Amino acid sequence: MSEEPDEQLPREEKHKAAARADRWLSKYERKSRFLNKMSEDYDVFDNVFDMPTLMTINELRSDGVIQYIKSSLAAGKESKVYLAVAPDGSLRTAKIYLTVNAEFKKRMQYIAGDPRFSDLKPGSRSLIMTWARKEFKNMQTAHAVGVRVPLPIAVKKNVLVMEFIGDSEGNPMPALINTEEITLNDYQQVIEQMTMLYQKAKLVHADLSEYNIFKTDLGIMLFDFGSAIAIQHPNSKQFLLRDVMNMNRFFEKRGIEVLNTAQIVEEIRGDTK
Ligand SMILES: Nc1ncnc2c1ncn2[C@@H]1O[C@H](COP(=O)(O)OP(=O)(O)O)[C@@H](O)[C@H]1O
Ligand SMILES: [Mg+2]
Repeated sequence: MSEEPDEQLPREEKHKAAARADRWLSKYERKSRFLNKMSEDYDVFDNVFDMPTLMTINELRSDGVIQYIKSSLAAGKESKVYLAVAPDGSLRTAKIYLTVNAEFKKRMQYIAGDPRFSDLKPGSRSLIMTWARKEFKNMQTAHAVGVRVPLPIAVKKNVLVMEFIGDSEGNPMPALINTEEITLNDYQQVIEQMTMLYQKAKLVHADLSEYNIFKTDLGIMLFDFGSAIAIQHPNSKQFLLRDVMNMNRFFEKRGIEVLNTAQIVEEIRGDTK
């Protein structure tokens, strides 16, 4: 008896199986040629685009979420942000959480030998994907209750796609830190958005600063929700206090008469206890 199960198959079935294998192989080859080409194209950006990330971008393309990545917008320690183009030509933002940077490798080193994380493969991407998904969900929750945030569009693996905030040429809106005109109304709007985030979305931003706020034509917009936490979190009050202190520091520096920090925290939490 042969070891090959195929030998058991009638001739016609064997042909079918061979044809299937051929089709699969050519599809695979096409795909890998395509990914290689893509990787050459995207090499101009940097090493963010490892093979799995390219495949994820390719999936987002199949889903019609983005057609291609156009240029780099910003580079942080844990993620990089790109300008992407949708199939209809409209602009989108893709935030790609890094899996290949030094920071990540350093973190993985500590986790890898720890028995508590034994089910987490060394070099595992699942952790990173959890962060991307978490930011996406936070944005969805905030958006659903009317907090002004970039519209979250899709999340897949380590890639988060959202509305692009900027002009039609692809220039991103400057963050508050780089905004010239800062008014009392901006300050009031920030507190209003924070209050809505707390009372309706039940979230605290927890990384709020002049770097994570846009001043759009529609008003103040919060973004960068990767660190946001539920108000039930035991440290949520501390995080809220820090967010408020950051805001007060910034607006005061810009000549705005700010309110008492503790008073704002109370107002946001909706308690006067
Ligand atoms: N939706 C967006 N539209 C336009 N630019 C964006 C958008 N989201 C992020 N950016 C740009 O990318 C930068 C980094 O994004 P952010 O979410 O704050 O990431 P990080 O976690 O690295 O701080 C922002 O300061 C901004 O310049
Ligand atoms: Mg940020």
